[in-house]
Amino acid sequence: MNILILGSGGREHALAWAVKQNPKCDRLIVAPGNAGIAMLAECADIDILDGATVVTFCEENAIDFVIVGPEAPLAAGVADAARAAGLLTFGPSAAAAKLEASKAFTKDICDACAAPTAAWARFTEPDPAKAYIRAQGAPIVVKADGLAAGKGVVVAMSEAEALAAIDDMFGGSLGAAGAEVVIEEFMDGEEASFFILTDGTNALPIGTAQDHKRAGDGDTGPNTGGMGAYSPAPVLTDALQKQAMDQIVLPTIAEMARRGTPYQGVLYAGLMIKDGKARLVEYNCRFGDPEAQVLMMRLGAQALDLMLACAEGRLDEVQVNWADDHALTVVMATQGYPGAYAKGSQIRGLEELPEDSRHMVFHAGTAQRDAQIIATGGRVLNVTARGATLREACDAAYAMIDRIDWPAGFCRRDIGWRALSE
Ligand code: AMP
Ligand code: GLY
Repeated sequence: MNILILGSGGREHALAWAVKQNPKCDRLIVAPGNAGIAMLAECADIDILDGATVVTFCEENAIDFVIVGPEAPLAAGVADAARAAGLLTFGPSAAAAKLEASKAFTKDICDACAAPTAAWARFTEPDPAKAYIRAQGAPIVVKADGLAAGKGVVVAMSEAEALAAIDDMFGGSLGAAGAEVVIEEFMDGEEASFFILTDGTNALPIGTAQDHKRAGDGDTGPNTGGMGAYSPAPVLTDALQKQAMDQIVLPTIAEMARRGTPYQGVLYAGLMIKDGKARLVEYNCRFGDPEAQVLMMRLGAQALDLMLACAEGRLDEVQVNWADDHALTVVMATQGYPGAYAKGSQIRGLEELPEDSRHMVFHAGTAQRDAQIIATGGRVLNVTARGATLREACDAAYAMIDRIDWPAGFCRRDIGWRALSE
């Protein structure tokens, strides 16, 4: 079959890498793609936020299956447009993607199905929001309702910080995303990510992972999109996964179906674990980035079969065949990220690294200029390895990093520390 993947990050490189290994895949196109993706698939520079453009492209290229990577096209209704045109599509409708695109929507769903999550309130005016913050006290969490590219959440350790966040969001710093604000109880604990495929009725857990959001070693420095991840996440024990399925995920899927907006695609549940109990932090309507890199490394070719079963509504017929191993990815970013950074530095040494089912460098912000690979983004490479143990995967990933010659780049040296120290 001919397959189109939408997106251009490390997540989409990992999806393409896994899909390409499946014998069902004939032609693979990624739009818009990047320099690493171009080594294993065709890349097409189209506007992936425009449903009509994507549908026309699929018709012209005889595409049989569309996989939507990032949240922006999902929230823009690209999966709806593709399905309406009769295309088999992996990814939720815009109505279902509200589980990521609106924090207040997700909180309403949690209330409707009694899913454990932080206590909350919603506001459209600054004064009542500030009164609520003063009444609750710090620490407290202030969130813009809409999609804000990772900038919409302020975990405020002081009341002053929370009040400033209110002024900032209602002052228009995040545009329409901040027109409504959700204020939440601060949840203490350990965070982990849980990934579930659902066709709207059936649900299939496909793995756990832990990300590292801060830029610096020891979880210091500013928040980023994620500086490294590993799978599985030992903190999400079988018992906790069962509790999260029973109390959070399955009730959410049922509530979405009851409302006439069934959720189809991957549901990424961000969980906070404390005292042997998981609570929901947030949902995302897509694979995590860089969590997808470690999930795809462990799933390999079967990822396509699972996504097809999901899109075709027959998840009850498939199961996940896990290799009993671990994967770890380290993000290499341009110095300065997540603040301002320079573009165009050259990366050397990639061609000498192993690339097989246990070692892979996924590209995020790269481009090819003549024969050179250059950095064009903040997060640039995801150096990924598998091992029989997490320690083995970690050592293999850092051994690859040490062979990459990129003076303008940096990475954290402690990815995996939580699980490795347990
Ligand atoms: P979100 O975009 O909702 O995932 O929030 C981004 C990050 O903020 C999460 O991954 C958590 O680390 C943190 N966070 C969000 N909500 C809370 C909360 N209620 N309590 C503590 N930390 C939170
Ligand atoms: N790595 C976090 C995310 O994809 O949202």
